[in-house]
Amino acid sequence: MTVEVAGVRYPTPVMTASGCAAAGRELTPFLDLAAIGAVVTKSVMLDARSGRATPRMVETPSGMLNSIGLQGPGIDTFLADDLPWLVKQGAQPVVSIAGGSLGEYAELARRVGMAPGVAAVEVNISCPNVENRGLVFACDPFQAARVISATRRGIPKDIPVLAKLSPDVTDIVTVAEAVMEGGASGLSMVNTTLGLAIDPVTLRPALGGVTGGLSGPAIRPLALRCVWQVYAAMPEVPIIGIGGIRTGFDALEFLAAGASAVQVGTSTFHDPSSPARVADELRSELALRAAVSPREVVGVAHRPAGTSALRAEVSM
Ligand code: SIN
Repeated sequence: MTVEVAGVRYPTPVMTASGCAAAGRELTPFLDLAAIGAVVTKSVMLDARSGRATPRMVETPSGMLNSIGLQGPGIDTFLADDLPWLVKQGAQPVVSIAGGSLGEYAELARRVGMAPGVAAVEVNISCPNVENRGLVFACDPFQAARVISATRRGIPKDIPVLAKLSPDVTDIVTVAEAVMEGGASGLSMVNTTLGLAIDPVTLRPALGGVTGGLSGPAIRPLALRCVWQVYAAMPEVPIIGIGGIRTGFDALEFLAAGASAVQVGTSTFHDPSSPARVADELRSELALRAAVSPREVVGVAHRPAGTSALRAEVSM
């Protein structure tokens, strides 16, 4: 089940998704952090933040809306407490960073780049909950590329920089191309999509922040379409698929569409063992199709029918 993404080896292709388990501590009663693909930490900013007004989460059909507002301890506390703890657990830490300006991303990169034990850096340029929509850098290819270049400069060459993209764009391939030109080593696709829910009693927006990021199975086809389009345009670029993955077959769908690994997020709210369980289920799905490794199925959905060595007929 080992996979390589942008030069880093992970024990399985199934990682946690940023924002759904802080720095991993809450998951330890439910799974072995060292045995899952990676722990992608909650996006950390330069300073500590208390986040947006409550309520911050609301359940929606097959999904969830959140407007957390990048609550977190700030980079210094994260690097002093959370990162060393994760490294001690034997986990592969993928550190997610979020900034409000180019300068903030550059400074975050400089500090994370000096910290020992970081497997990769995921650059969150797609948070839907920033107060100023103009700061969703991933919605503008030029700004997205500038953030990635500024980050890349502060991170040692052997640590990959993954750009986390937003699905809320007209042409995701253009943004993907821009961030790769800006120096990204790979792509995390996708972040939540902007949504809204109305409270049935008050008939006002259910979230304190009014809008929020929609996640969960409701967005899986949307996320899968984004992965498909980018892989079709740039098959050589490492992609980590994210969006409503809940089962091993869901993960397999993303691999077939072109992802080399996946992240599981919303599912952990009702099954905290999801990242480990999904990897086990994926192992069975691969075996059912006589695939010897996850790598064998990456992008297979793009090949003409009958041209892969995988077992074609699977009785369900
Ligand atoms: C948040 O903290 O508001 C969510 C972060 C994100 O979706 O990027």
